[in-house]
Amino acid sequence: MLLLGAAFGVMTIAPARAEAPAGASACSGCHSPAAAGVAIPTLQGRSAEAILADMRAFRSGERPSTVMGRIAKGFSDEETQAIARWLAENDDAAPQP
Ligand code: HEC
Repeated sequence: MLLLGAAFGVMTIAPARAEAPAGASACSGCHSPAAAGVAIPTLQGRSAEAILADMRAFRSGERPSTVMGRIAKGFSDEETQAIARWLAENDDAAPQP
C-alpha cells in the first residue's frame, strides 16, 4: 500500500499546495529534476526574479532558445510573474525521480 502511494505520488503533482497559476504546471513537465541532465535545466532553487528575467529575455529574443522563446511569448508579463513566483515558492512541485 505504501509502495502504491509512493508510485502514485510520482505520477501526480502533490495536492495541498498553493493553487498554481494557469501555465505553471506546463513548466514542471519539462523542468523536473527527473529531466535534469538531459538538455533541460532544472528550475529548482531559482528565485522568481531570475526566472522572470530569463522569461523576458526569451520572449524578446535577447536570449536564444529552442523552445522557450515560443513558450515565453504565450504568456503576458503578469502571467509570467505569477508563474515565476509560484515556481520559486513551490520548488518541489515537479515529480521527484
Ligand atoms: C517543451 C519543454 C519546456 C517547457 C514546457 C518549458 N520549458 Fe523552460 N526550458 C526548456 C528548454 C529546452 C530550455 C533551454 C533553453 C531552450 O533551448 O529553449 C529551457 C530554459 C528555461 C529557463 C532558463 C533556465 C536556465 O537556467 O538557463 C527558464 C527560466 C525556463 N525555461 C522557464 C520556464 C517556464 C517558467 C516555463 C512554463 C511557462 C517553461 N520553462 C516551460 C524547455 C521547456
